[in-house]
Amino acid sequence: MKALTLNAPAKLNLTLDILRRRADGYHDLEMVMFSVDLCDRVTVRLREDGNILVRAPGTDLPAGEDNLAGKAARAFFNETGSTPGADITLEKRIPAQAGMGGGSSDAAAVLRALRALTAPALPLRRLEELGAQIGSDVPYCVHGGTVLAQGRGERLTDWPDVPPCAIVVCKPDFGLSTPALFGRVRVDALGPRPDHGAMLRALRAGDLSAAAAQAVNVFEEVLTPKEGETIHAIRRQMLACGALAARMTGSGPTVFGLFRQAEDAARAFKALCPRFSQTFLTRPLAAPAGEV
Ligand code: C5P
Repeated sequence: MKALTLNAPAKLNLTLDILRRRADGYHDLEMVMFSVDLCDRVTVRLREDGNILVRAPGTDLPAGEDNLAGKAARAFFNETGSTPGADITLEKRIPAQAGMGGGSSDAAAVLRALRALTAPALPLRRLEELGAQIGSDVPYCVHGGTVLAQGRGERLTDWPDVPPCAIVVCKPDFGLSTPALFGRVRVDALGPRPDHGAMLRALRAGDLSAAAAQAVNVFEEVLTPKEGETIHAIRRQMLACGALAARMTGSGPTVFGLFRQAEDAARAFKALCPRFSQTFLTRPLAAPAGEV
């Protein structure tokens, strides 16, 4: 049976702004996202019996269609009306429930693998639309690169890549619920907002320091004192080691630091590892070659 293994990269939010609550319960967002080389590995093997099975060894992630990866396979088969089933294996490295889009990226890798195996003519744009049925971050994970994402997260504009740098990613031991965090937001009361004009100028100029100075995530405004204590302690540690910026990604709780010097990133990694076992050194991924 035909099979394919793909990388499913983690995403980070260079910015995250919340513009308004919508009538459908979602929020209109504006965020700059990019992918890093911290990846899950996703293997998709076609079956003949119509079943969709998902395994993620060493995790307690749901099997079958309760998993975003299984949902993605079902959405793909409904769209193409052709292929009968899939065995999906997820080798997880991206922390779950971390604001790094791990589940969304696995789902996007399933869509890309099924397209390559069964329907190579299906436009990438259609794959992104299928992704939007599965989760707000899935279209971005199908698309990749550095983008400005708007709407629910599904309207994507290619932006210049984040300049090469070293990145430390650190996930605290607690989780944050995305719907609960959105529920705390009073849009009119949010503090400093990202300046996307200034961010675009910084990225166009390839100016890492200027881009770092514009990194803002409004979710940091709605943390409880207890959540904020850990998250700001991680940020302070990264900044003390020379990070140009240290911010929470997505709806957290993971914090990432951008470093010009790999040695500074290595020092931050060493300092954070003993307390936070889910700490990683990573780098931005270049935009994928112009696929359609
Ligand atoms: O789309 P997804 O299932 O990933 O979203 C999870 C939850 O996050 C939604 O149920 C909603 O509460 C919140 N959300 C939102 N606005 C967005 C994306 C997510 O309010 N743009």
